[in-house]
Amino acid sequence: MRRFLIAGNWKMNSTSASAKELAQGLVDGVSLKDTDVEVLISPPFPYLSQVKSIVDGSPVQLGAQNAYFEAQGAFTGETSADMLTDIGCSHVILGHSERRHVLGESDEIINKKVHACLNEGLTVILCVGELLKDRESNQTESVLETQMKGGLKGVEAGAMGKIVIAYEPVWAIGTGVTASPEQAEAAHQFLRNWLSENYNAEVSEQMQILYGGSVKGSNANELLSQTNVDGALVGGASLKADQFLPIIEAAVGLSS
Ligand code: PGA
Repeated sequence: MRRFLIAGNWKMNSTSASAKELAQGLVDGVSLKDTDVEVLISPPFPYLSQVKSIVDGSPVQLGAQNAYFEAQGAFTGETSADMLTDIGCSHVILGHSERRHVLGESDEIINKKVHACLNEGLTVILCVGELLKDRESNQTESVLETQMKGGLKGVEAGAMGKIVIAYEPVWAIGTGVTASPEQAEAAHQFLRNWLSENYNAEVSEQMQILYGGSVKGSNANELLSQTNVDGALVGGASLKADQFLPIIEAAVGLSS
């Protein structure tokens, strides 16, 4: 059985004080013993180390929101995968729609980052998702296919245990408009079939495919109940412990 992963993406939010408070609130409130649920938070880079010292020894794992593909050197402002493992990150989010559409990242750049992070032993949460205009013109599947092909180019089946896919329809991110459970399930089913055709049935069955886009406590249960939805990538609702914990609890309820 696939484990649920509930991942928080804090984006460019929080202060040193609020990051500590939020991390502590989650550590105090989370209970995952004997469940098939994993929990991850991804604070901004400046707060990773201090959050690490709070989540250490708890079931809350630490991820980063980006990484650069070069190992070291004259790349002002960038952070390498090696630096992330050095400070205790287990995961990294790559190809988030804000990096694609606001910061201009191509599938080619994302693919280089995927390889660099896999080489360092990080688990990569690779985000894919269509724009509203893609959905309205029936291009959702071809956009997902292009992003999967591009992002995973050269990644062998043996490395896929370290990849998590996050399906995030861009029109649902931060908008309060969530994909319906049926829309989410259809996209997840498409992605799982793609994995089966391009890798193999075993890889496809084992992979976690998360849904992201306006997930909250009130809709988590019905989204996570879908056969091919194995967790959530949560932005806004991951910024308050009392909003993130109910999403984790929905997964715990479904896993037991
Ligand atoms: P949201 O963001 O939950 O605020 O819609 C999700 C994401 O961007 O990962």
